[in-house]
Amino acid sequence: MKPACIFDLDGVIVDTAKYHYLAWKRLANSLGFDFTEHDNEQLKGVSRIESLKLILHLGGKELDAAEFDAALVRKNGWYLEYIQQIGPEEILPGAAEFLSSVREQGMKVALGSASKNAVLILERIQLLDQFDAIVDGNKVSKAKPDPEVFLKAAEELAVPVSDCIVFEDAVAGVQAARNAGMKVVGIGSAVVLDQAHFVLPNFAGLSVADVLARFA
Ligand code: G6P
Ligand code: MG
Repeated sequence: MKPACIFDLDGVIVDTAKYHYLAWKRLANSLGFDFTEHDNEQLKGVSRIESLKLILHLGGKELDAAEFDAALVRKNGWYLEYIQQIGPEEILPGAAEFLSSVREQGMKVALGSASKNAVLILERIQLLDQFDAIVDGNKVSKAKPDPEVFLKAAEELAVPVSDCIVFEDAVAGVQAARNAGMKVVGIGSAVVLDQAHFVLPNFAGLSVADVLARFA
C-alpha cells in the first residue's frame, strides 16, 4: 500500500503558531504574568484546555471553573481576531506545492490537528479540498502527545499506522506520532524536535521522493 501523509496544521501548513502565541501571551499578561516564546514551545500542538492549564501552572495562578472557561473564550476571541485577515499568503513555504505533489502521486492526505478552528483556517487559505480526511480538535478527546488524533486519521484514511508519515512542528505532536507508531518528519528546529525521524526547516523545494527515500 502507498504511504499516506498526515499533516498538522498550525506551524506546519500555515503560519498561525505565532497568533496562538500572541493570544496566550495577551491572556497571561492580563492575568498578571509574562509568557515567553521559550515557554510557548511546550504549548505547541497542545489543545486549548491543556494549554491554559500549562500556562496557569507556569504563572503560578489558579482560576475557578467559571474564570477558567472565561479565559478560554477570551483567548480564542483574540486568536480569531488575529487570524481574521489570513489568506493563502500565510501558507508556509512550499507547503501547498508539497501537498499537491503528494496527491499527484496518488497518496492519501489527512489533517491531524488539535485545533477546533482547523476547518475555518483551511477554508481561508483555500486548502480544504486537498484533504481526504480531517481530524481536528472537535473529533478528539485526548490532547497530543496522546496518539488519538493520528490514529483516527489513519482509520479515516483506511491506511495502516506503519504506512503513515506525520509532519509536525510541535514536541507534543512528534511524541503523539511516535506514540501512534508512525514515521514523523519534524518541521522546524532539529534541536527542539529531536524525537522526529528527521527534521526540515520547511517544505521549500522538498519532493515526495526525497521524503520516501529517507524512510526506505
Ligand atoms: C494547535 C496549536 C495549539 C493550539 C491547539 C488548539 O495544535 O498548535 O497552539 O492551542 O491547536 O487550537 P484551537 O484553535 O482549538 O484553540
Ligand atoms: Mg503545530
